[in-house]
Amino acid sequence: MAMDGLQDLLHDELKDIYDAEKQLTKALPKLVKKASASELKEALQSHLEETQVHIDRLEQVFEQLGLPVRGKKCEGMQHLIAEGNDMISEAEDDATRDAVMIAGAQKVEHYEIASYGTIRTWANLLGKTNVAALFEDTLEEEKEADRKLTDIAESFVNVVAAAAGDDQEEEEPRSRGRARKAIRGSRGVAADRGGRR
Ligand SMILES: [Fe+2]
Ligand SMILES: [Fe+2]
Repeated sequence: MAMDGLQDLLHDELKDIYDAEKQLTKALPKLVKKASASELKEALQSHLEETQVHIDRLEQVFEQLGLPVRGKKCEGMQHLIAEGNDMISEAEDDATRDAVMIAGAQKVEHYEIASYGTIRTWANLLGKTNVAALFEDTLEEEKEADRKLTDIAESFVNVVAAAAGDDQEEEEPRSRGRARKAIRGSRGVAADRGGRR
């Protein structure tokens, strides 16, 4: 591929991720408000602050490349945010909402990780090592944010959501549960007998 082709790709992807980060600065404060677990609230809040730094770095990149600071609507991020919001609005309790929020936020992080990894590589290929270093700094922060979300999910949020699901199944009176087991048991016996005949 011609180098100017790669440069065009870099510029397009730069505009895309700039818009994606801008969308996130609008979406994250709403998630912070909706989060129940304090660990999740704090993680989202600190990533909102980091996201502002990511935007500042991208503006430095535009400047270093001699380009006007201008984004181009990132459809990918728009749909990720919309899908996340749909799932959040369907959650029926706090723990489930937190679990869904973590899932949505991690999908966003993975989108960003893919984008920054790509433009870091392209910048290096074009010999723009200063720009590549700025992308690399953000890439590491996105990866760290993703790891933090995994830790929170594993530590308790998903466990609590699973327990909430179990509770609903147990709402049936115990006697009826036992009765059903007994029926299943007797059928099992009957089936065994039938098999032997
Ligand atoms: Fe970011
Ligand atoms: Fe991020």
